[in-house]
Amino acid sequence: MKLSQDTIQEIQNRIEIEEVVSDFVSLKRKGQNLWACCPFHQEKSPSFSVSPAKGIFKCFGCGKAGDAITFVMEIEALNYVEALKFLAGKYSIEIEEEEQTDEQQAAHNEKESLHIVLGFAARYFQDILRKHPEGKSIGYSYFKQRGFSDQVIEKFGLGYSLEEWDGLMKAAKAEGFSEELLEKAGLVIRKDDKQNGDRFYDRFRGRVIFPIHTVSGKPIAFGARILKQEKTKSGKAGARLPGPKYLNSPETAVYHKSDVLYGISQAKQAIRQHENCYLVEGYTDVISLHLCGVENVVASSGTSLTDGQIQLIGRYAKQITVLFDGDPAGLKASLRGIDMILASGLHVKVVVFPEGEDPDSYSQKLGSTAFQEYLQKEAQDFLKFKTALYAKEAANDPIRKAETVKEVVASIAKIPDPIERAVYLKECSSLLQISEELLVKELNQLHRKKLAKEAGVKQLSPPPEEETPSRPVLEKATTVDESLQLQERESIRLLLNYGFSQIEENFQLHDYLLQEIEELEFQTPIYKAILQQFKDRLAQGQVVDAQFFIREGAPELREEVAGLIVEKYDLSNVWTERHNIHIPREEDVLDKAVFQNVVRLKFRTIQKLIGQNLQKLKEASEEEDMLEFMQVHQSLKNAEMELAKLLGIVVSK
Ligand code: UTP
Ligand code: MN
Repeated sequence: MKLSQDTIQEIQNRIEIEEVVSDFVSLKRKGQNLWACCPFHQEKSPSFSVSPAKGIFKCFGCGKAGDAITFVMEIEALNYVEALKFLAGKYSIEIEEEEQTDEQQAAHNEKESLHIVLGFAARYFQDILRKHPEGKSIGYSYFKQRGFSDQVIEKFGLGYSLEEWDGLMKAAKAEGFSEELLEKAGLVIRKDDKQNGDRFYDRFRGRVIFPIHTVSGKPIAFGARILKQEKTKSGKAGARLPGPKYLNSPETAVYHKSDVLYGISQAKQAIRQHENCYLVEGYTDVISLHLCGVENVVASSGTSLTDGQIQLIGRYAKQITVLFDGDPAGLKASLRGIDMILASGLHVKVVVFPEGEDPDSYSQKLGSTAFQEYLQKEAQDFLKFKTALYAKEAANDPIRKAETVKEVVASIAKIPDPIERAVYLKECSSLLQISEELLVKELNQLHRKKLAKEAGVKQLSPPPEEETPSRPVLEKATTVDESLQLQERESIRLLLNYGFSQIEENFQLHDYLLQEIEELEFQTPIYKAILQQFKDRLAQGQVVDAQFFIREGAPELREEVAGLIVEKYDLSNVWTERHNIHIPREEDVLDKAVFQNVVRLKFRTIQKLIGQNLQKLKEASEEEDMLEFMQVHQSLKNAEMELAKLLGIVVSK
């Protein structure tokens, strides 16, 4: 779907960045800007700023910056169009859609039809469970026997499919849904029959039904558990099941298994509140946890976790707690999958259940209170858990120990944040009783391998396509550069206009200024050139002022310098005469002016260096380099603080 230009324009006109941001973090005003702890990284003191005047946000800690739309894209994990729709919703702006091509319209219509028929099917299964004699006596009583409450049956829309070939199909056709649509929705199966024409029959028969919902609660697929047990020869129910225990909907135009999490719709609010999401294996685990009052839980449903699913969770919380069955063999295999969560920058904890128990069985065994306590008490940091697990096994076996180091370092290497990595290296080195140095070495080796691999892949793949060409490119962090340029200009202005004025006895302005900026290199070519000439001439004992450049300077310098001397005759004279207001003349406050200029110049230079260093940190591949850049960062931040104090500005730590 495409939004019309008018709608986009209206949304952009209505957005107030502080209103948008304050739905997610609480902002405090300090000066012209609003401040908060950054929602994109962990921090204790606020370095996230919002400028209502400019309509932008920027975090001085993690460097994230953008406008209200980018903010929504980031925090809600939406694409550009989705973010616009989100904002349209917030400001109650009616969405006008652009004309679609016939194909787009058809695809859109098909999805709409699928949603409608899936909604119908979900209600049908629910009705059968509650009202049909077979549904009540078999499906409903099964859920009851499992301890499911009526509320939870309702909340998850649980249902039942009759033991018939066309229970759903008949009902759906009576409502006007076609067999083809039912097939596209994954609800019926087509059986090829050349002679009599194709036949259709229900996919789910004689099973309890677990609808799978989108984030916003629309049913898009179903999981169905078998109830019947195969009769043995003696006529008694045996252990073997006539068919798979669970049947699931196939992939359809609206159901992409790898992007869906079971229970997300029922869990999202609780996940946000608790800033944590429990991850379990299946339907019954999710529901049992709800029965115990734990609502921030989702299941990946059979498949191993995908990036899409991790991102979905990441919209709501930055921490995932994985609940593991107490099965030692399966445990290690599952641990590998968790590296993917680390790689996405989320924090991972684990809870392991006693052998033979899964979250479903164990929660029923303990009951709400004890189970919730168990989750609280047993949750441990994933990396420490993994390290301890391997360390124990490898205690007296040097070869196993080497493997252990590789395993643990492989996980640490996945963490995108260098500072977090450093912390883990330290902790794991003490847990494993192996020097940090050795772990760093191992880590570097991995980084190099990864880079080599990426370089190889890049050469083969075509250049990336632009994703959303309609998105205006945001200019990043021009502010520091601009401010720096302004201060360089101010230095030159002071030098050329007042360079030889006394600011103290026997102490001229240029003595002070040149000494203070000796170690700085000007960034703006024209000011750099003027400064150099000033110094050169001065070294030859010449007095250099604005007149000198206007007479003898290169043409482009002349113009600039002319502009600078105009400002010498500032407005103060006019003001004094016209309004009889006394404003101190610049000549009288030169010492202050030049001091301010020097401090500001240094302040902006430091900020520029911080930016450059952070960039290096981002691009670094060797852990040693990273540690060094981090130290540089710290000392630059300290210097920034000191200068900020002199300027009376508050900056983030
Ligand atoms: P279980 O085998 O424990 O299922 O698998 P259950 O329904 O709880 O059965 P019992 O009563 O313990 O024997 C746990 C979860 O794994 C998924 C389901 O989501 C289930 O809730 N699962 C299991 C499948 O998706 N497919 C299967 O074949 C088995
Ligand atoms: Mn089970």
